[in-house]
Amino acid sequence: MERKKIFITRKINSIGIELLKNYYDVILYNRTASPTKNVMIRKVKNVYGILCTLSEKIDSEIMDAAGSNLKVISTYSTGYDHIDIGEATKRGIYVTTTGNILSEATADLTFALILALSRKIVEGYLYIIEGKWKKGWTPDLFLGSNIYGSTLGILGLGNIGTAVAKRANGFNMNIIYNNRHQLPKSIENKLNATFVTFDQLLENSDFLSIHTSLDKDNFHLIDSTELKKMKKTSFLINTSRGGIINESSLIKALKNKWIAGAGLDVFEKEPLPNRNELSKFKNVILLPHLGSATVQTRERMSKVAAINLHNILAKKKPLYIVNRELLQNLSKLW
Ligand code: DGY
Repeated sequence: MERKKIFITRKINSIGIELLKNYYDVILYNRTASPTKNVMIRKVKNVYGILCTLSEKIDSEIMDAAGSNLKVISTYSTGYDHIDIGEATKRGIYVTTTGNILSEATADLTFALILALSRKIVEGYLYIIEGKWKKGWTPDLFLGSNIYGSTLGILGLGNIGTAVAKRANGFNMNIIYNNRHQLPKSIENKLNATFVTFDQLLENSDFLSIHTSLDKDNFHLIDSTELKKMKKTSFLINTSRGGIINESSLIKALKNKWIAGAGLDVFEKEPLPNRNELSKFKNVILLPHLGSATVQTRERMSKVAAINLHNILAKKKPLYIVNRELLQNLSKLW
């Protein structure tokens, strides 16, 4: 019997690729970079499944190019703002993600940014590397601010926000959060987290950490008005999606010292263009979207993305699905 064709858009961790090779005719774009749209359009012809990453935009043009065989888009990510979900659902195409597999790794990285910002770790490291440390211990060298006892504001207390809150308890931080909906008291008590309004979150956080997914309602949610409401001594941390912060407004905020600094793992445009203004501030730490970048997490993401794709084509429930409403039709896929 002829094997069904599936397309993998990048050279991801090999576990998932090998798993899928057992069942499918795998077309692999064997590079570490994303294919261009034209390449994607050529490669997806007649495929039953696409395994993509967060850097490839999967819109109606790609779905048209694949044709009516296409039944599943499995993303090697938790975020799915790069996929036109409405269009996929209309066509009966299942969209799956890696769910909460990367929550702990992303929470670790969030804390790395909190620590590095508050204790000037990058500045101190560069001071030695650049040969500027001449006087030994100095009473006022690189004075930072306390994490212990400070207030952490979490925007979006979902899987990653929860993993961040658990770590914050170990640092004896006061935890406040804002969500679309307040969580049950039992969860709030377990996390020592207090629900506040969005404005209270902005006004009271010493560290404001963003953990909400990007959608059409929260694009540029953090803009000049919001940045002006933050404490002058506060830090803004984003390991979610760049589009939630208006970067030009953030640059203005940093220049005018409306906030004390920022730790950013995600940007409106990735890769961040060379000589971007954000790279000129000493109190800003930039990382190239590393939230899930641990060997163990990427391995699990690869496995989960492959299982999701295979489960759909085998008419079985995937591990994590976005358009859940389609599940009722899964048994009638062919
Ligand atoms: C995701 O999966 O959405 C993350 O941003 C990848 O690191």
